Amino acid sequence: MNHFSQFFTFLVIVLATSYIDAFTRNDFPEDFLFGAATSAYQWEGAVDEDGRTPSVWDTFSHSYDRGNGDIACDGYHKYKEDVKLMADMGLEAFRFSISWSRLIPNGRGPINPKSLLFYKNLIKELRGHGIEPHVTLYHYDLPQSLEDEYGGWINRKIIDDFTAFADVCFREFGDDVKLWTTINEATIFAIASYGEGVAPPGHCSPNKFINCSTGNSSTEPYLAAHNMLLAHASASKLYKLKYKIKQRGSIGLSIFAFGLSPYTNSKDDEIATERAKAFLFGWILKPLVFGDYPNEMKRTLGSRLPVFSEEESEQVKGSSDFVGIIHYTTFYVTNRASASIFPIMNQGFFKDMGVYMISTGNSSLFEWEATPWGLEGVLEHLKQSYNNPPIYILENGTPMKHDSMLQDTPRVEYIQGYIGAVLNAIKNGSDTRGYFVWSMIDVYELLSGYTTSFGMYYVNFSDPGRKRSPKLSASWYSGFLNGTIDVVSQDSTQLQSNFSASSSL
Ligand code: NOJ
Repeated sequence: MNHFSQFFTFLVIVLATSYIDAFTRNDFPEDFLFGAATSAYQWEGAVDEDGRTPSVWDTFSHSYDRGNGDIACDGYHKYKEDVKLMADMGLEAFRFSISWSRLIPNGRGPINPKSLLFYKNLIKELRGHGIEPHVTLYHYDLPQSLEDEYGGWINRKIIDDFTAFADVCFREFGDDVKLWTTINEATIFAIASYGEGVAPPGHCSPNKFINCSTGNSSTEPYLAAHNMLLAHASASKLYKLKYKIKQRGSIGLSIFAFGLSPYTNSKDDEIATERAKAFLFGWILKPLVFGDYPNEMKRTLGSRLPVFSEEESEQVKGSSDFVGIIHYTTFYVTNRASASIFPIMNQGFFKDMGVYMISTGNSSLFEWEATPWGLEGVLEHLKQSYNNPPIYILENGTPMKHDSMLQDTPRVEYIQGYIGAVLNAIKNGSDTRGYFVWSMIDVYELLSGYTTSFGMYYVNFSDPGRKRSPKLSASWYSGFLNGTIDVVSQDSTQLQSNFSASSSL
């Protein structure tokens, strides 16, 4: 099929399957932010340049045979080029993270002046192009020195070190950064990094699937998440006391949020779904909004679930100005015996949650089925159960084989479906304020290295220059943001001709 007929087929599919009404950028509030995201280790490269020291992610990726972030997209050197791509695309916001071990090479102590310059330049470049920076402080990349010294997030010492790191960021960058996320996808970070061993630093109990050098899957995820909540609350308190009046920014914590829906309409499956929501959302959101863990978790976990002192509970409660949502896919939930969606462990979070999660469609490592109604359900649940907090969708997108065509039609279809779901949720009263595509460009992927990617720009990772080429999704997003695309009656000829001009790998 040639480009045009491919695109035309796609358009027909979208028209035929779309369950949303037509919409444009203008249907969203003016101050709603549309952006795209990356993270430091996945985008920057330059891992041993200008004073940066290794993080647990460097160590983790070098212990597996699935590539590493040594060079990644070389964003450290190519940031100006990337900001230009963002500006050309009409991006309103860019979410990136700060490499702690670049900024403070030993995790604690002296600041690295070259890294200060890098992040200040990046922020200046963004602002110069009218792009709002959304900064994540922690995205899987603890300085290795702190992991070696005391075990990182499973030790309460992390609270002080994280707060000191946050203090440097607020002080140095806060005049130009109004949106801060303290920790990326706290829930899945605790589960994948401390229970299943599939993300850095790779802790888990001994098992036959993954060779973790240390860990306890029954306790560490809960301990790590507890310390994340306390570290977030401490950084947030500091921001409010020392910076907020002058800098006028907001600070939030983010969770990974699967769409969850009962498999059948049986009472059992409904109860199982409520339990899954308590474990997957309430674990972090109940403390943030109400000051304590969900009863379902307390009952199941007993002494394995840490306890907040009265003072801690007060500090955690209300510590997030917004909730960050990382959303990709939806599962049906049933009350059958539990199993992990990661390699099956006979202990840990998924066992404790005690439900069985069934994929809603033909999702695979290479493509995820778009189920926008799942995100709408998450936003409705948060509105109803957590006092309608301000929300930013900090990540949403779909992976495809890295070397697949630049015509990433399934991604366009996926993204526009989810943007439609966000609009529906807003119309139903959700206080959602922003949406970020993961990812702005192809990056080193957390679970799949360079085999799959989510980017709207293709990056040729075999080219030393790391050439970027726009995919169809970049043209689509650009047209949507510039108001030239109405999701149902978009100007296909225009989009296709814009795209064809640069569509070879
Ligand atoms: C989760 C993480 O925040 C990010 O690092 C990862 O690459 C994407 N989502 C895709 O899995």
